[in-house]
Amino acid sequence: MKFTIDTAAASETQDFAERLAAHLAPPDVITLEGDLGAGKTTFAQALARALGVTRTVSSPTFTIVKQYEGKVPLNHLDVYRLEGSDEDFGWDELFYGDAITLVEWAQFIQDELPEDRLDIRILRTGETSRLLELEPHGIHFKTICEAITK
Ligand SMILES: Nc1ncnc2c1ncn2[C@@H]1O[C@H](COP(=O)(O)OP(=O)(O)O)[C@@H](O)[C@H]1O
Ligand SMILES: [Mg+2]
Repeated sequence: MKFTIDTAAASETQDFAERLAAHLAPPDVITLEGDLGAGKTTFAQALARALGVTRTVSSPTFTIVKQYEGKVPLNHLDVYRLEGSDEDFGWDELFYGDAITLVEWAQFIQDELPEDRLDIRILRTGETSRLLELEPHGIHFKTICEAITK
């Protein structure tokens, strides 16, 4: 099952991230997919802000895992460099702990991901327009998608 949202400006993608954040609680996991310039960082920053993170959220490419303190802890993962590796970064603690987790390049750690999660794909449809495709896994995220897309 997929849900879609059209955004006509970065601010609308940020608004959507904010709406989603209001429904999240640890240990929720969200994966984020999209080409360079699609809006992954834009989305992640808005989500983090809505979760009460005051530090600047930047790409975690060189660190794999960045942890932020908001109203709840937030993990921001970019696992691009783990392609083909089976290194254990403490996945259980990350995915089943006390934080909300956002994962970029999640396909590289497919086997480690929890079954219940929300997959988000951002597609560029124009200069300032994007299609947000939401694929919830599990009843928790299906309920959230229904609430935030109606
Ligand atoms: N509808 C939109 N949603 C998200 N970003 C948008 C949108 N329209 C324009 N943009 C712009 O596209 C760029 C996306 O960059 P960024 O978030 O860094 O992408 P990524 O992290 O996926 O490489 C930003 O400059 C943002 O302002
Ligand atoms: Mg980025």
